[in-house]
Amino acid sequence: MTGHLKILDQRVAIITGAARGIGLATIKLFAAAGASIVAFDLPQSPLEDAIKMAKDYGVPIRTFHGDVANATDWKKVINETIDQFGKLDILVNNAGVSGFIGSMLEYPDDVFDQVMAVNARGVFLGMKYAGQVMKSNGGAIVNISSVSGIGGGRYVMAYTASKHAVVGMTKLAAAELAMFKIRVNALCPAPTATEMMFEMARTQSPDDPDAIRRGMERMIPLGRYGEPDEIASAILFLVSDAASFITGTAIPIDGGLKAS
Ligand SMILES: NC(=O)c1ccc[n+]([C@@H]2O[C@H](COP(=O)([O-])OP(=O)(O)OC[C@H]3O[C@@H](n4cnc5c(N)ncnc54)[C@H](O)[C@@H]3O)[C@@H](O)[C@H]2O)c1
Repeated sequence: MTGHLKILDQRVAIITGAARGIGLATIKLFAAAGASIVAFDLPQSPLEDAIKMAKDYGVPIRTFHGDVANATDWKKVINETIDQFGKLDILVNNAGVSGFIGSMLEYPDDVFDQVMAVNARGVFLGMKYAGQVMKSNGGAIVNISSVSGIGGGRYVMAYTASKHAVVGMTKLAAAELAMFKIRVNALCPAPTATEMMFEMARTQSPDDPDAIRRGMERMIPLGRYGEPDEIASAILFLVSDAASFITGTAIPIDGGLKAS
């Protein structure tokens, strides 16, 4: 396929949570932009759609099955990236889980640790091990936080804690890694039309999952969920040279939710 500016030509990118949702939409835009891609997701999450998108745009792709909460997996994926492509320019820390939904007074202790491991520790490990190799050539990191990373809300205690942690780590990493010409930014999306939201709605309201969506959409000034492609577009901008003076930010991408 043609028709897209190849603004990521010669760039090598790792994208986590690449099997579906925002991660898969990011694979599509990065492939259209000419990037060489490493798609990272859990062993049980097929990456065939990611492979197909890369093939459609004629860009090289490597897949990696592992757990972002596991340091050994990060060392492996970075080593494989360097073996295959010789460098790393871009990391998108997108993998995430929502965890328990309900009162903080009932929040299961072990689920708190599991959510923090994926959403916070996973982002830390990614930035640490990617940063160690990116420092030789510079690059860009985008961490996917959430509107739950910049506000309180209700019922998703560990998710909110972990997404606030992502914003804090983004700012620290931006300050520390600027000397290596590595930019680090976070995006804070409002509800976006992916399986993560659909699953949460089915759990919260099994008889009428759409009621959850309608309720959320009433709170968003633009009156709708975001689309995965809209989040991916912002990721593409932040990793591109068009954002060359932007680092350390946590940008809401939320249809106006946080403005109202
Ligand atoms: N969908 C939303 O409304 C929304 C809003 C704000 C922020 N976000 C964030 O955007 C990111 C992507 O969300 P999505 O909506 O596309 O979710 P999704 O559930 O559709 O996809 C998440 C992907 O991450 C993978 N993943 C989960 N745990 C992993 C692990 N330990 N190691 C490797 N891969 C793992 C899953 O297998 C899945 O493919 C998440 O960080 C999420 O918190 C989503």
